Amino acid sequence: MTQDEMKQAVARAAVEYVKGGIVGVGTGSTANYFIDELAKVKGRIDGAVASSEATASRLKSHGIQVLDLNSVGGMDVYVDGADEITRNFHMIKGGGGALTREKIVAAASRKFVCIADESKLVRRLGAYPLPVEVIPMAAHRVMRQFAAMGGQAKLRLRYDSPLVTDNGQYLVDVTGLQISDPLAFESEVNQWPGVVTVGVFALQKAQICLLGTADGVKTLTF
Ligand code: 5RP
Repeated sequence: MTQDEMKQAVARAAVEYVKGGIVGVGTGSTANYFIDELAKVKGRIDGAVASSEATASRLKSHGIQVLDLNSVGGMDVYVDGADEITRNFHMIKGGGGALTREKIVAAASRKFVCIADESKLVRRLGAYPLPVEVIPMAAHRVMRQFAAMGGQAKLRLRYDSPLVTDNGQYLVDVTGLQISDPLAFESEVNQWPGVVTVGVFALQKAQICLLGTADGVKTLTF
């Protein structure tokens, strides 16, 4: 099975967790496969809350109603991918740059179903460059703070200019970190002035992980 086939398989499996109502929808290539599967059962749901402009466009292109989070009470389920996930269901997210809205929509949902191919399962977070959304004026100060922690931080660029997120902010990607205590790490970095969201999802972790493997989809529960 290729990585894309694993992503498709977990996306299909995730639809089983959608019983009706409003669904929270993540961002990225795995989430895109989920949107395509969700479209096949769209009569079952009242709409979706999107974690990015890209996801909103894809949902709309399938005729799925996109709702403002402020107009809904909350969701039963949020389905999204991850860049890394541990056996404790702590994650690194934000490779697609949508980490802030992903954390918000996940927080408004009772259950986070993470869909990922097996390459995303890790013993410890930190090999994948950690995305951090920052207020533009704080970018270099935040990068120096990561350097003091032993990390190497880079501003994410698009065509030689800083990439601007859906929220009008910048992204910093940090390598060289050993995130041995994700809960403490997330709590600390979230306090730094100018940090909008750190891409560690430990306070806001998944409840279920559907992992695509060569032997099929495995359901990991905590
Ligand atoms: C986007 C994310 C994605 O969930 C993460 O990057 C995984 O992406 P993909 O499904 O394309 O591997 O956090 O901000």
